[in-house]
This record gives sequence, structure tokens and C-alpha cells, in this order.
Amino acid sequence: MYFADFAPGAGRLEPRAALRSDAPSLDLTGDWRFRLSPVADLPDDFAAPSFDDSAWDVLAVPSHWPLHGHGAPAYTNVVYPFPLDPPRVPDENPTGDYRRVFDLPEGWSGGRLRFEGVDSTFKVWLNGHELGFSTGSRLPAEFDAGPYLVEGANVLAVRVHQWSAASYLEDQDMWWLPGIFREVELTRSSADLFVRAAADGTLSFEGDGLLSIPELGVADLAPGTEVRVAAEPWSAEHPRLYEASFVTAEETVRLRVGFRTITVEDGVLKANGVPLVFKGVNRHEFHPDHGRAVPYETMVEDVLLMKRHNVNAVRTSHYPPHPAFLDLCDEYGLWVVDECDLETHGFGQTAWRGNPTDDLRWTQALLDRMRRMVERDKNHPSVVMWSLGNEAGVGSNLKVMADWTRERDPSRPIHYEGDLSCANVDVYSRMYASHAEVEAIGRGEEDPLDDPELDARRRAMPFVQCEYAHAMGNGPGGLAEYQELFETYPRLAGGFIWEWIDHGLTHQEYGYAYGGDFGEPLHDANFVVDGLVFPDRTPSPGLLDLKKVFEPVRFAFDEGTVTVTRAVPYPLSFPWALTADGTVVAEGVLEVPESPGAEVKLPALPEVAEPGELWLTVRAVLAADLPWAEAGHEVAWGQTKVGGGRREPVVTRGRAGTELAGATFDSRTGRLTGLFGLDVEGPRLELWRAPVDNERFGGLEWNWRTLGLHRLTHRIDSVSREDGVLTVRSRVAPAATDLGMSVTYRWSDVGEGIGLDVHVVPEGEWTLPLPRLGLSMTLPASFEEVVWFGRGPGEAYPDTGMAAAVGGWGASIEELQTPYVYPQENGQRADVRWARLTGGEGPGLRIEGEPVFGLTVRRWSTEELAAAGHLTDLRKGERVHVHLDHAQHGVGTAACGPGVLPRYELRAGEARFAFRFTAV
Ligand code: GAL
Repeated sequence: MYFADFAPGAGRLEPRAALRSDAPSLDLTGDWRFRLSPVADLPDDFAAPSFDDSAWDVLAVPSHWPLHGHGAPAYTNVVYPFPLDPPRVPDENPTGDYRRVFDLPEGWSGGRLRFEGVDSTFKVWLNGHELGFSTGSRLPAEFDAGPYLVEGANVLAVRVHQWSAASYLEDQDMWWLPGIFREVELTRSSADLFVRAAADGTLSFEGDGLLSIPELGVADLAPGTEVRVAAEPWSAEHPRLYEASFVTAEETVRLRVGFRTITVEDGVLKANGVPLVFKGVNRHEFHPDHGRAVPYETMVEDVLLMKRHNVNAVRTSHYPPHPAFLDLCDEYGLWVVDECDLETHGFGQTAWRGNPTDDLRWTQALLDRMRRMVERDKNHPSVVMWSLGNEAGVGSNLKVMADWTRERDPSRPIHYEGDLSCANVDVYSRMYASHAEVEAIGRGEEDPLDDPELDARRRAMPFVQCEYAHAMGNGPGGLAEYQELFETYPRLAGGFIWEWIDHGLTHQEYGYAYGGDFGEPLHDANFVVDGLVFPDRTPSPGLLDLKKVFEPVRFAFDEGTVTVTRAVPYPLSFPWALTADGTVVAEGVLEVPESPGAEVKLPALPEVAEPGELWLTVRAVLAADLPWAEAGHEVAWGQTKVGGGRREPVVTRGRAGTELAGATFDSRTGRLTGLFGLDVEGPRLELWRAPVDNERFGGLEWNWRTLGLHRLTHRIDSVSREDGVLTVRSRVAPAATDLGMSVTYRWSDVGEGIGLDVHVVPEGEWTLPLPRLGLSMTLPASFEEVVWFGRGPGEAYPDTGMAAAVGGWGASIEELQTPYVYPQENGQRADVRWARLTGGEGPGLRIEGEPVFGLTVRRWSTEELAAAGHLTDLRKGERVHVHLDHAQHGVGTAACGPGVLPRYELRAGEARFAFRFTAV
């Protein structure tokens, strides 16, 4: 059976470039007749023109049938959802039959049926004649329709199998989503060309026709002739394209040529002679309603979002994207690593036995995929590297793919991460290497390979982290430290964050669904939800941090001066603002010369009476509209403290003889029962937080729960009142261990409001980091709004929050929540000096901290947050939960990659911190 065969296809035409031609074409997208069968072994009668399909459903092309009520999506990461017995597949093999009748325009003859993407194997009939079959879900296939086209109505029939031999080659970490998910057309175009345009202006091409670029004075250039023109080079920052036409006997093709050169010189990756550092993301094609059938507007949205967040590169993990996406990368400027549709990761489960990568029976199939990608995408200036695939182990077929590619296109380096020896590639690539290892590689001090020759080769290569900083849930932590390394060592050519988008599918009950939500017997839960943007493409805090870390303009403040360095040619202006305790008191625009680096005098700042903290913020904003953002768009910012101090330190000693005004306590337990008439619970020591994905998947949650941090007991040891100070001594500890925290709470009247001094002393040998160390309390549900002076507007944890600036901020409680698809700790505002909570009838509450504190306000408890599996599980409760944290543990990226860097760990230790509560 063809769908259980090593052959990649039959009856297809030679692959060629994706081109915009004026040759007639007939768009065959739209409504098709559709029937789903549970097995693949079916009669072919439906292909006959006379077949009656009137009882079938209607299904849109492009689309995935499981997203339209036929069967259901399924998610696995590494494991195959069927037994490993290649090339065979299970009898249960959902098979979609598609039929479409189209009218041939008058005078039309000949043409090709072009399928841009069908998942996974499909067979095609035209007017009852079998044209052939193809595999390679994310690659185009063309069939000669000419001999079988008839005047008037033509019947196109396509049979698509979910499972096929090709499925063994397509084990990417994503939803299994069969169907004709990219466009289908009948086209009379047959042109192909391969333009070679280098940064030095040399231009030539292969192809049967003549090339013209009027703007450069190139007219009717013949194939194989090289000319040199005065062209501006193409780069991601300045994506200069030249309109070209390619004329053959039958058609005229319009294309845009970009001149650029990628080289490896002395172990450094260079673009147009300048070191190239990828500030990249891994992009899967995904839309929460349409899966990988991504609408064009959504592709544009991705590109604009990337550009606006200082991203300069994309790895098309793990398959060639829709061809229009690469046009957009050419146009707006993104460096692209174009990756072949190949992953056999699941063979790793069985020690790579029978891995197709190392099996000669699969050679043609693997080569076919590589050829079809290179041929389709060879004319894109944005494509600067070819990637052989992802996580496909090692084997002789890699060499066949690489050798062919090098021969066909010597102008682009070859990438593949899965073979540590780098035998077939031009760059050394790794995923999730720790900071320490990246640094060692940067210095050229990595562990040697056994083979000295390969080792020497690899040591001379630039290094790319094709995946790093796993952006799953809250995080990723450690971004700034990676970027610092990339910018320190010339060998390091940057990398690509894993990954761009959360693949949560729209779901009526859950909001967004992940693995298991469709009843899959085998799945990898929410590991598919690990992006920098939420499923609806709202930027997550991780993307905002990334924007800050990737800033191409930097501010280094010194006494009275700031050094501004810029690595992009954008027109910029530099507005500044002076704030006193978060309120703007003066503004202006800094004059910065246009050079790559300039030391500029800071503006003379006005005297401010009672300033509180004075901060100067300088921003770099676009001074003119660019194709990807309007004038005023913020590219970068920096801030520095220029004076002032805390207005009044929190007084933590009570005055003799005064009352604890405004607060009522239970005299026996010392428990606070009311605050300025408000019904409050707590505050008391808290160590637990709802584990983040990195703790859930990285193992720390298990250790924490084993220790019992989620079930602390609180024992009151003594309550005393002396000199107006109420002292409550307590011990907080989990059951079944002798570890604990001795806590002393000291309440005192501080004149205006009430002060709480907390002293924590750990008892026993604490070996695990703590989730958090702080106080938690609850307030009536009537509270609505929070205003604070500290870092904001977004969340921040010890190793995240680079995007959070010191300032005065405000938000509703709802707005303070970060909607991670899988609920987890989120929403902390960091370095808060004071906060004001208001709403409802009663008084508001002002909380001031000494030192600064982490503020989290929610409508559910930590326990409810930790127990929730979807956002829809979280419901507004009877209380508002307030966390005042002295410290939290970092978030790291341990779901995949290194954990929290030692400097961001929260280790148990003696701690003192204080708060002052006032009614407002
Ligand atoms: C990598 C893989 C990605 C993704 C990631 C974890 O190993 O290449 O496809 O699975 O891990 O999210």
C-alpha cells in the first residue's frame, strides 16, 4: 500500500520555486465535499466523476478536519501515538475523501495541480484518472493535470490518510492534525529560477528565461551570466528588496531580489561581512481555531509582533512554513533558518532502533523532503540557513541530504542540531545548553569530541542555540544572562527562544485545550503550551521581557551623562521623563547624535520639593513610520535613579503607651481580626506558591510537595503585649519533618497606621529552595483596584521582569492576573514601595514595605490556583487574596533546560521585613 511504503510519492513533477506568475491559475480553495472513514483500506469508487457525493459533508479547504467536527485533535511530544513498526501504520487510520468539481475556463489547456500542504499522505485523481500520490505534509507537490483535463466540469478527488509511512518522519512536538491545510490550485505556471544575489552586488541566475531588475539597470539578463550592480544589501534591519521580472516563453514571474551574503569567517557567522547574532524565536504555524492552516493576516500579525518586540530571526520549527510567511520575512526583515519537515524523535524511546535517518530504505524520502524545501525557498534573501530537520537522531541519510544541498546551494550554511559531531553541518548547534555551557563554547572550551578531526572542525564553527529559554508558562527566566553571553563571545551567533506561540486550541469548556482534553489515551498534557504569545497572540510577560533583552539600543547611565549605543539604522528620537515617586514632574527630548555610540549629557533637572524617589527614564522611539510600526513606537528604554529617597521609612518600633489604633486582635491567639473596620484574615507567613510549569515538569514541585510546603501548619507559641507592641511568636512547619520556621510578628502603633515587623528564623536543615517567603492575607471581595509605586506595569520574578520599570502604576485585580493557559503562580509586581487597594464601601488600604516587597492580589487562593487545570476552573471567590512577599524563588526554564540560576534561588535564611498598614 502506498501509504505504508518507503517511497515519498509517485507521479509528481520536479520541485520548483514558489513564484508569483502571471500564468493563469484557478484557485481551488473553498468548499469541498468531504467524507471521513475510520480506516484507510477503502474502494476508489469515489474518484469516478459519476460518484454521487450529495450525502457527504462540506469541508473548507484549507483546513484540518479534526477542527471541523470530524474526529478530534491529539497531542504528543516525543512519542508516536501508534506502534513503532515502520513503514506500517495501524488499521485505525482516519482517512478523508475530498471531492471538488470545477469548471475549466474557456480556452484553457494544460496545467498542474499544485498542493501547498496536505497532512499526511494523499492520492489524487482527476476525472477518474489517478495522477499519483505524495508525502511531506508541509511541502508542495505538483501533478500534471494536462492529459486529463476536460472542457467544462472537471472532478478532482483526493484521498488523505492521517497515518502513513511518512508519519514516522513527522514526529514534531505538536498536535496531530490531518487534512488539506494549505491551498490547492490548478496553475499553468511551470517556471523555475534560482537567483544568486550577493552583498557585493554580483548577480546571476539559473532558469530558462530572462531576468530584469529595472531599478538596477539590469535588462534581459541571460542565465549563467554574472553582472555586478550597485545594490544596497538586504538585512533584517534594512530589508532592501528590488523588484525583478523573469520572462519565459510562457509567462512572466515577478519577484523581489535581495542582495546578501552569509559567511563563516574565523568561526564567526557573518551577514554581509558583519557578525550576525540571531535574536530569534522558533515559530510553529499555529492558530487556536485553525491549527496549522494559518490565515494570511495571522502570518502578518506574527511578523509585525516579532519586529515590534526586537526579534530579528525565526527558525521555522520544524518544517517549511507557508510560502507567504517567507515573503513577509523578506519584506519586513527577519533572518530565517528554514527547517526541513523531518523529525523522528520517537525512535529515541527505543534506543533509536530502526531510525529512518539511518536506514537506506528511507534515503529517497528524506532527500525528497530536503530537495522540495530548498527548491521551493531558494530565492528568499531572508533564508540564511538550511536546517536538515529536528531531533531525527544520526545516520547516513543526513549526509545524503547535506551533500545534495551543498551542491545545489553553496551560499547558505547547513544546520542540524541532532548530531553532536557536526559531521554534516556548518554551524555547531545545541538546544537548552546551560549558561555555563554556552559560555564554555563561547570561549572555545567545550568538551572535545572523541574524533580529533571532527573536533577540530566543530571547534572552528560558530555556535547557535537553535532552542533555548523554554517559554512555558511563567517565564522564561535567565534571558538576560544568555543575551549577555551572546554579545560577549564572537563565536556565539545567538539563538532562538522555544517557542513563539502557545498551541492551545479554542475549546468551549476549557477556553483553551491542550493534550488530553480531547480524550487522547497517550498525550503530553500542556507541554504544547509553551510560547511567548498566548494562543490569541497577546504577548505574554515573557515576550515583553524578551523585547527588553533584545533591545538594539542601549543606555548606560553615568554621573550626569548617558551613553547611547544603537545597532539599527532606524530614525529615532529620545523622549525623557523625570518622575517623583512615580509621578511625572518634568519631560523633554534628549538630543542624541546619530552615531552608533554617543555620550550625551543628561538634561538639567528641576528641583522637586518633597521628591520621594526621583527616576529619570529615557526612551528610544521611532521618529518616523516604518513598515512594521508607526512613529512613536518604543524600541528601547533605560532608567536611572537620580535622587531622593524613601519619603518616610516605615517605623517599626511602637511608641510606648499608645493603642494599636485601627486594629483588633484575638487576645488569646494574637490573630488580627479587623483592620480599620475591614474584615481581614492573616497576615501570616506563607512559603507556598502554585507551582509554575518549570517546577511541575522540572521536578521541584514534587520535592516541595514531598516536603509538605503546600500543607504548612501554624502554631502560636506566645502572645505578649508590652510598651504598646503586640508580639506573637509562632512556628510554621510542615508535618512529618523537623524543619520549620520560627516567626515573630510584632504589631505596633506607628502614629499613622499600624506597623508589622516580621522576623523569620529557619530551624533545621533546609536543603530545598523555598517557593516564596512572605505574608498572605485576605480582604473582603469588594476591593477592586490596586495602585502601586514599584516596578510595573507587568509581573516580575527574580529572574524575569526585565520589562518592568520603576514607576507609579495602577490596575484592577482582574488586570493583575496573567492568563497562563495552565494556571500557575503569576502576577507578582516587584520592588513595590507602597500599594493602595481600594474599592467598595469600606476604607481603602495602603501598604508600605520595608524593604520593598512583591505584591500579588487575586480573587482565589494559592490552593485554588494550584488545583486548577484550566483558566475556566478559577472563579471569583468571597475574598481577595493578598500576598506581600519578602522574596520569591526564580522561575528558570526547567520544564526543558536549566533550572533557576543560583543567584535567583530563594534559600532559607534568617529574614526581617516590615509593613505599615494605613486606611485611605
Ligand atoms: C525540543 C524540541 C521542540 C520541543 C521542545 C520542548 O526538544 O525540539 O520541538 O519539543 O523540545 O518544548
